[in-house]
This record gives sequence, structure tokens and C-alpha cells, in this order.
Amino acid sequence: MGDGDHLAALLDEQAAFYRAVAPEYDDHALPLPGGGELVEALDAFRPAGSVLELACGPGTWTSQLLRHATELTAVDASAEMLGIAAAKVGPRRVRFVLADLFDWRPDRRYDVVFFGFWLSHVPAERFASFWSLVADCLQPDGRVFFVDDGYRTDEELIEGERSPVIQRRLTDGTAYRILKVPHSPADLERQLDRIGWRIKVHPTAGPFYWGSGNRPEQAA
Ligand SMILES: C[S@@+](CC[C@H](N)C(=O)[O-])C[C@H]1O[C@@H](n2cnc3c(N)ncnc32)[C@H](O)[C@@H]1O
Repeated sequence: MGDGDHLAALLDEQAAFYRAVAPEYDDHALPLPGGGELVEALDAFRPAGSVLELACGPGTWTSQLLRHATELTAVDASAEMLGIAAAKVGPRRVRFVLADLFDWRPDRRYDVVFFGFWLSHVPAERFASFWSLVADCLQPDGRVFFVDDGYRTDEELIEGERSPVIQRRLTDGTAYRILKVPHSPADLERQLDRIGWRIKVHPTAGPFYWGSGNRPEQAA
């Protein structure tokens, strides 16, 4: 099996994990400080206008986005997650799209692109192409906002600390390999700068961070 096949198999296993964990997703939330700062930062950012939420999961952020957005499209690869999100937000202004973000193309552009706890699951090999997708989703004066963490327990590090591959378990013990890239806010900011984004990444009191900014070339 080549490297490409290996990565594709990992991304499939990661998507399968999230399909399986959907009903118990909220039980796995990190009981760590700093989460409240993310909520406040997103409200201060004011994600108004047309908003695209990537990897929306069970709608963790969808209702908060709807406090500001006039319309919202939410994409995820798990029908189970989308079902929970739809039940949570009710019949409101949301278009849910079932799609794999590694081959999905947008059918329009948005004022804001948001993703919560998704970037750390994007492998280094797909980092630039993911951000190029984000650029293709944004209006010329569009803005991006994301929240995430780099938290990995010793038990999860089945390939060692230097590997992005970790193991996560369902409550029944079933194990899956997923990717969890432990970005540091400062490195992430530099990496984004190198590919044309002006994004400030802010650490919180706990393991979380949030980032917001734009791509000046987008507006040129
Ligand atoms: C860590 S969860 C984040 C969910 C939500 N945004 C939150 O903050 O709680 C990651 C989400 O990515 C989705 N996902 C995994 N692989 C994907 C892929 N290839 N394309 C689209 N979504 C994917 C999962 O189904 C899951 O809902």
C-alpha cells in the first residue's frame, strides 16, 4: 500500500469514528478550562451574513452561528452527526450538506467560513489544499474563524508523540485511528502566513485556541 493509500485509509477510519461516536459525542467533551473564551471570541467576531460551517458535527456551534448569520450552510461527512445537528437547531435557516471535505467543492461563496475542532484533523499533506478550499468558499472580503485544541492524552499516542496519528475509543471500547495534529498557535499563524492568510491565532487559558482573519489576496 502506498503513502496515499495509507492516508486515504486513515481519513476513512477517522470519518467512520465520527459516524460511530455521533450519539455519544457530547460525553467525550474535554472537561478543561478555556472553552468559554471561544464562545466569547466567536460572538465578538460576529459571524454575520452568509455563513458556511465546515465539519459541523452535532451542531455544537451551529446555534451560536445562527445568532448572527442570516443564512447558514453546514457540511459534514456523517449523516448521523447531521441528523443530530438538524434536531438540535430545528427547522431554521440551515442547509445541511452531507459531503467529504477532502473532495467537496462549494456551489457559491460566503461572507464567513467557520470550523470548530476540525483543523487539527486535517493532515499536513492536505493542509494547503484545505485552505485553498476555504479561499474558494469565501467572498472577496470574506472572513474566517476557527476554534480547536491540540490536546492528546498519553494513552492516545499509539505511534508516539511525533506522529499525528492517535487512537480514540467509543464508550464500548471500540478503537479507531484518527489524526490529531497538535498545532501550536504561533506555528499555525506562521504556516498560514506562508500560504497567504493573515490570521491571528489566540491561545486560551486551557488547551484551546481560536483564530480569525482573512486572505488579503482574496480582496485584491
Ligand atoms: C471533532 S468533530 C467537530 C464537530 C463540531 N464542529 C464541534 O466543534 O464539536 C469533527 C467532525 O468532522 C467530521 N468529519 C470527519 N471527517 C470528515 C470529512 N472527510 N469530511 C467532512 N467532515 C468530516 C466528523 O463527522 C465530525 O462531525
